[in-house]
Amino acid sequence: MPATPSSNPTTPTAFGAVAPYYDHLMSGVPYRFWIAYVERLWKKHDLAPKSVLDLACGTGTATRMLQQRGYQTAGVDLSGPMLAIARERAKDEDLAIPFDEQDAADMDLGDARFDAVISLFDSLNNILEDNRLQSAFRRICAHINPGGSFIFDLNTEFALEQGMFNQSCSRRDEPLHYRWRSRYNHETRICTVNMTFSYDPGSGERETFKETHTQKGYAKDEITQWLRNAGFAAVTVYDGYSTDPPRKRSDRLFYVAVKA
Ligand SMILES: C[S@@+](CC[C@H](N)C(=O)[O-])C[C@H]1O[C@@H](n2cnc3c(N)ncnc32)[C@H](O)[C@@H]1O
Repeated sequence: MPATPSSNPTTPTAFGAVAPYYDHLMSGVPYRFWIAYVERLWKKHDLAPKSVLDLACGTGTATRMLQQRGYQTAGVDLSGPMLAIARERAKDEDLAIPFDEQDAADMDLGDARFDAVISLFDSLNNILEDNRLQSAFRRICAHINPGGSFIFDLNTEFALEQGMFNQSCSRRDEPLHYRWRSRYNHETRICTVNMTFSYDPGSGERETFKETHTQKGYAKDEITQWLRNAGFAAVTVYDGYSTDPPRKRSDRLFYVAVKA
């Protein structure tokens, strides 16, 4: 899901109004499968992390799953409302996970170093400026132990131009209805998604709210180069959720970057 635009593309209001409904919207998302896939990539690259930072963790579903699987985790996200839910859920499950409200591009976690950083569900497409994404890669690398890894996925330009965010739901048995319509600008490679939501809390009266989200499509080669410039020695790219090389029509790519 893309973030809300403003003059600062990584606005702190992103994922604000939608935050209380995010887990409901994601109820069909196979987080367990994603975690299994990340573990498969770690294994394939001879990595055995003990500590994991979940960057752009949102409501922390993946963070909690990793912690329950024995990793020592932490979460960072730009959105206070998303993090409020992450903290509440972790507390409910008796999990001691530190969550920090920070922008990936300026992330500063002091002396903290992790064996692995992950960022799932095209979160980094929400950074719209090349220099801020490059800055995020440098900040991530600075918080990784030598030999550690950074795994993340990005929507491809192909996916964004295909209108993947044109979605709607208005089922009568669904309390949350939504209608998303996207536009892709080939020049800027920015996809703008106008989202309208309405929620029936049970009273029969719908509360409506809107968010306009944006994502930028990045090319595989520029991302690979920026990761190397940031201090990652080896970068491997896979077609989403597989260990196959990227295809011309891949809609999601996973990057595995290993620090020297
Ligand atoms: C689609 S959600 C994914 C959340 C989580 N990774 C998941 O898989 O459910 C994207 C998240 O990225 C966060 N985000 C967007 N830009 C960010 C930035 N510059 N720094 C940190 N988090 C950011 C948003 O606040 C949002 O929580």
